[in-house]
Amino acid sequence: MDARLDALRQILPGPRLLNAPDDLEHYGRDWTRRWTPAPLAVALPATVEEVVGIVRWAREHRVALVPSGGRTGLSGGAVAANGELVLSLERMNKVLAFDAIDRTVEVQAGIALEAVHNIAREHGLQYPVDFASRGSCSIGGNIATNAGGIRVLRYGNTREWIAGLTVVTGAGELLRLNKGLVKNSSGYDLRQLFIGAEGTLGVVVEATLRLAAPPPPTRTMLLALADFDAVIRAFMAMRAGLRLEAFEFFTSLALKHVVEHGAQPPFDDDYPFHAVVEYAHEGEADEAAALALFERGLVEGWALDGVIAGSQAQAAQLWRLREGVTEALAPRLPYKNDVSVRISALPAFLHEAEALISAEYPHFEVVWFGHIGDGNLHINVLKPTDMAQADFVRDCERVTRLLAEVLARHGGSISAEHGIGLVKKPYLTGTRSEEEVAAMRAIKRALDPDGIMNPGKLFDP
Ligand code: MLT
Ligand code: ZN
Repeated sequence: MDARLDALRQILPGPRLLNAPDDLEHYGRDWTRRWTPAPLAVALPATVEEVVGIVRWAREHRVALVPSGGRTGLSGGAVAANGELVLSLERMNKVLAFDAIDRTVEVQAGIALEAVHNIAREHGLQYPVDFASRGSCSIGGNIATNAGGIRVLRYGNTREWIAGLTVVTGAGELLRLNKGLVKNSSGYDLRQLFIGAEGTLGVVVEATLRLAAPPPPTRTMLLALADFDAVIRAFMAMRAGLRLEAFEFFTSLALKHVVEHGAQPPFDDDYPFHAVVEYAHEGEADEAAALALFERGLVEGWALDGVIAGSQAQAAQLWRLREGVTEALAPRLPYKNDVSVRISALPAFLHEAEALISAEYPHFEVVWFGHIGDGNLHINVLKPTDMAQADFVRDCERVTRLLAEVLARHGGSISAEHGIGLVKKPYLTGTRSEEEVAAMRAIKRALDPDGIMNPGKLFDP
């Protein structure tokens, strides 16, 4: 161990500073697999004071820090490939307080999203941010990327649910922001700066999360649809006639991979597009409305087939078809794009992007799926088995540049919910103006004067 780590060991007594090769490998990467992990070491603090100590140590010794939660990120935001210290929040995973009057729960940042769901449920409430990696991802990571997921159309992004945030800035200062208040018109809302900052301004150590009334009983419907315009027509009809909790889509290619991965095919025939629709079902009137909408879809030609789950188990089966896409594609090491446009621009964006990609890269399997209700499309490019990884990445970067051009025409974003990280850094200025990026850099300098917080993510130092 070098002298820097000897000094760090004074702050972290016991076996909480790891540097065995397996640990460096494990903690140095996220779900992207493009970079070879090479951290200096891994720190496992257990208290806010220890995090403050680590950040101050990092400033003194000019060591870069990579805050680390469940490392389920898809943009390389939690990758440590340049001798950084990984600051893992995994030991800071406790519930600190629940307040029934405020309807809040205060947690340490390392707690898993699913654990928060369970606590809320135990109190007859819900924490409504939800997505497939719920069991492994951490609240701190959700905050760092302003995570979205499958219920954004009904409940919004993570940002809406953060009533208070405790952070250690890159300057080593402890800030307790907003303190659970509902109203607070006292100047800049610094809390919001740390939400979506991808760990580039400081370390989120604790959060006060707002909880909501429990969700209504729901039903889940799977629709087979003729084309993407039909997906949008179905969305508009269902949104007008039902109380939607989720409206997600995937293509036949996505379905093929999920079925090959073990899921049950939903229909005998193949259809180009599918939508999973979850809606409030509080009585027979809701069911009648859903059926009437489906029948209208058949008559108007946007619906080709459909099924409504008759039990929780069947609903879970239908959801697996959508939520299982990421896992089913993972062995193919997909190149992921995660874009957003206004819902009204979705069809034009998809048609233009699809035409450009298929004209230049007809041999690529491109899997489309995502969150129609909030304008967020996932475009995963799969590597042909006979193609070298380096050639594949080069071509995928060109695909992303094509997407960025189409996005710019439609005023969209190159990252809807995964973050910019390392993967999308070259495309940031397609989404944010030079003036915006300059303002972001100024904010970073103010909160992280030595540039030790996750350097190289979001933009270059
Ligand atoms: C999803 O919507 O399933 C997630 O964003 C994960 C992914 O894009 O693979
Ligand atoms: Zn998503």
